[in-house]
Amino acid sequence: MLDIEKIRGEFPILRREIHGRPLVYLDSGASAQKPVQVLDAMERMYRETYANVHRGVHTLSEQATVKYEAARETVRAFIGAADVSEIVFTSGATAAVNLVAYSFGEFKVSAGDNVVVSEMEHHSNIVPWQMMCERRGAQLRVLPFDDDGRMLTERLPELIDSRTRLVAVTQASNVLGTRPDLRQIIDAAHAAGAAVLVDGCQGVVHGAVDVQAMGCDFYVFSGHKLYGPTGIGALYARRPWLDELPPFMGGGDMVATVSFAGTTYAAPPLKFEAGTPNFVGAVGMAEAVRWLQQFDPAEVAAHEDFLTRAVTEKLLEIDGLRIYGTQSGKCPIVSFTVSGAHPYDIGMILDKMGVAVRTGRHCADPVMEHYGVTGMCRASLAVYNTVGEVETLAAGVKRAVEMLR
Ligand code: ALA
Repeated sequence: MLDIEKIRGEFPILRREIHGRPLVYLDSGASAQKPVQVLDAMERMYRETYANVHRGVHTLSEQATVKYEAARETVRAFIGAADVSEIVFTSGATAAVNLVAYSFGEFKVSAGDNVVVSEMEHHSNIVPWQMMCERRGAQLRVLPFDDDGRMLTERLPELIDSRTRLVAVTQASNVLGTRPDLRQIIDAAHAAGAAVLVDGCQGVVHGAVDVQAMGCDFYVFSGHKLYGPTGIGALYARRPWLDELPPFMGGGDMVATVSFAGTTYAAPPLKFEAGTPNFVGAVGMAEAVRWLQQFDPAEVAAHEDFLTRAVTEKLLEIDGLRIYGTQSGKCPIVSFTVSGAHPYDIGMILDKMGVAVRTGRHCADPVMEHYGVTGMCRASLAVYNTVGEVETLAAGVKRAVEMLR
């Protein structure tokens, strides 16, 4: 069984008070807090093993390189990639999607082609595709969802055709919590010869991932939502893609030889890692992965599901409160509005009570438009949250609504 109090003890920030109240942190979907193991690993790297990677024969550079490449192997094993060269470190999921949108666009997409995204994507998995479609003269098509937050995968045959080059879809919606039927989407895309990018930003945090079993072509995620540092993330791509796609950014480390007559590129993954990488971040992210791997994913999921059900039940006691996204098996995200109370006002009152939730449009304007709302509040849960915190949230929302009405 998970020892939640012990887990909480490993997160120094959870001992903070906000406005004189114990912090109740329910915004892990935006960015999760960091255990002391991650903070220590990064500090140790800066204090003891710091030098640029892949660039020196001196001891510190070699030791830093070993740690950086070990982090790559940790990430490979974590998501079940076949080969370590299939893991490209990026500054985060957004950078990873942009990398694919640019390189894949250059290589594969021409006028008259199309790309399919879902209506429930966050902006990181919409805007890079829009930009790519504009550059390449391609069309962006949208797979809708219904009011319960179910992705309408039965509409795939209308959207995917022989000119579809790529389908980009979330593993779990950051607003609705919905985990779409990836099997169906990936099979439909592959049957039409299209590639699939899965956005694992939320999904990778809340359950075991096996990219080979999933069968996607590309998978992206960020370190900071995974109890790791900011400024680091990863792109998984099946090796044939990495061999074929042109590089996104040029610079040091991504080259084999450079001359004014022409440049040759390094083999993947370095071909896609121009410039000094965030190797301390990569080591921190690998430590976060190791930290998470000490727990049974089924136990983590059971704890988070229990909290999700508890928060849903408590919040629904509040008159006029609506929860968006009610699919079974959703990830621990509960977005809501309350009639007669603006989400920002609720969020600000909750903050005075020490409770941190996300308010606004959640980087997902199309989802807000779907429901015709200007914004929502969102509680997103992590392994360190407790039933007591969920009760504090519900009591806080109730109090806020009473004040605002
Ligand atoms: N996409 C992030 C969120 O859901 C920032 O909050």
